[in-house]
Amino acid sequence: MGENWYQDAVFYELYVRAFYDSTGSGHGDLAGVVEKLDYLKSLGVDCIWLLPIYPSPLKDDGYDVADYLGIHPDFGTLDDFRRLIEEAHARGLRVIADLVVNHTSDQHPWFVESRSSRDNPKRDWYVWSDTGKRYSETRIIFIDTEDSNWTYDERTGQYYWHRFYYHQPDLNFDNPDVQQAILDVMAYWLDLGIDGFRVDAVPYLYEREGTINENLPQTHAYLKRMRRFIDERWPHALLLCEANQPPEDVVAYFGEGDEFHMGFHFPLMPRIYMALRSGESAKLREVIQQTPPIPDGCQWCTFLRNHDELTLEMVSEEERQWMWQEYAPDPRMKLNLGIRRRLAPLLDNNPDRIMLANRILFSLPGSPIIYYGDEIGMGDAIYLPDRDGVRTPMQWNDRPNGGFSAARAAALYSPVIDGPVYGFQRVNTAAQENDPASLLNRMRMLIRLRKQHPLLARGSLRFLDPGNEAVLAFLRSEGDEHLLVLHHLGDRAVEIALNLAQFAGLIPVDLLSPGELYAPLDVAPLTLTLGCCETKWLKLNPPE
Ligand code: BGC
Repeated sequence: MGENWYQDAVFYELYVRAFYDSTGSGHGDLAGVVEKLDYLKSLGVDCIWLLPIYPSPLKDDGYDVADYLGIHPDFGTLDDFRRLIEEAHARGLRVIADLVVNHTSDQHPWFVESRSSRDNPKRDWYVWSDTGKRYSETRIIFIDTEDSNWTYDERTGQYYWHRFYYHQPDLNFDNPDVQQAILDVMAYWLDLGIDGFRVDAVPYLYEREGTINENLPQTHAYLKRMRRFIDERWPHALLLCEANQPPEDVVAYFGEGDEFHMGFHFPLMPRIYMALRSGESAKLREVIQQTPPIPDGCQWCTFLRNHDELTLEMVSEEERQWMWQEYAPDPRMKLNLGIRRRLAPLLDNNPDRIMLANRILFSLPGSPIIYYGDEIGMGDAIYLPDRDGVRTPMQWNDRPNGGFSAARAAALYSPVIDGPVYGFQRVNTAAQENDPASLLNRMRMLIRLRKQHPLLARGSLRFLDPGNEAVLAFLRSEGDEHLLVLHHLGDRAVEIALNLAQFAGLIPVDLLSPGELYAPLDVAPLTLTLGCCETKWLKLNPPE
């Protein structure tokens, strides 16, 4: 893969602590990820995104960074990190890691100094106030645990600003030393060979009175500086933006091709679930139609699930209530404005529905991300606090601890999922490896197909009218290549008719079942019957 490799890539998000424990400590580690690189290679993904790997009290699973230049001792050493990069690169895999710039842990030495006295030189590295009343128009993100974005610090009698947990003070990006310090952190990891960063929580870098303190022009200006900085010395490095915002605001993070290379498409994700549950395609069409075009060289990152709750920040109040009612019947499944469940349980552990969701994702523009464990249909543990229930150990086989670790079960950082439906005894990679019909092998096929047809990543998209709300129909095109995509969201078989007169003479071949034969297209509409959850990816080929 060349320069804009990320535009056609398939990503895999993993939590090092949860993936594979190579030492028997009860925690996954970097050396464990190295041992599993062949698995990732055989899955067919191109780039691994590591959740934060830095020293941290792990009160927010590493998003509370206590040292930007080290590796958490539970995860290994810098040498292990170097080895991971080398071994990944040797297999043609790339590695990006989280870069948490908006805030640090309150245990970071910068903050320890900053809070030590009002005249400490690092005081201004964070955002302090006498009253804790400034920026009152700012929303609270972690509404289940925080009741203010300010926390009072007794020692110096002032309040510090934080958009997330109270133990994650926000850095003050108005301070030029902070701006430079973050660039230095990036240089450090890029020199070690990392392929880029998933930059955490970017909309919140700056604060200005009278605004909601999201997406401010100062934030964009700094991010452009970040991009210039990496382009000068590491032109192939990737910057992936985490901005949970509506499409028009997310698009702003691509700048004019001079800010992020990629951005998560947050608004798309919940609408896939709405379409799947309602059996109606309208919401999905709408969100895609509302998504502005993005600059050349940029790409969306699309996903079904990640390490956080399934966020419902980007839907209306009515839609949120509906999503909770449909997908979070037990109150423990809710967290903040979202749902803390994994993909398979959300879709009733129905493999056809899980594949339909993935096929929708893989047929839309953007580069898809798979969340570790979802490729085998792992379950969740809603009795665990916070987001821990979707961060349980990866299930490798049916041996103790699901083959994740040789430690005693009681020493694991988290229990392994047990039980008759999602337990490691049943759901694990080894069991699925040799079964061609397993979710794992169906995902492998899908990834392979996606990569054989780059028009799925980069091609244009035009909706067609199949005359039935239960069917999402669109055309992906690049040059004179065309792919007709049909997704049936409903449970009952439907017949549809599509006007494809402009392609008369071309012969459809279904990439998902190439054995099925089709007559050449005609000026008369193409009629087709689609069964429950059925998808067709019809490549429109010229006759031999
Ligand atoms: C991450 C979360 C984290 C938060 C605070 C988010 O955007 O995805 O896992 O808790 O940032 O760092």
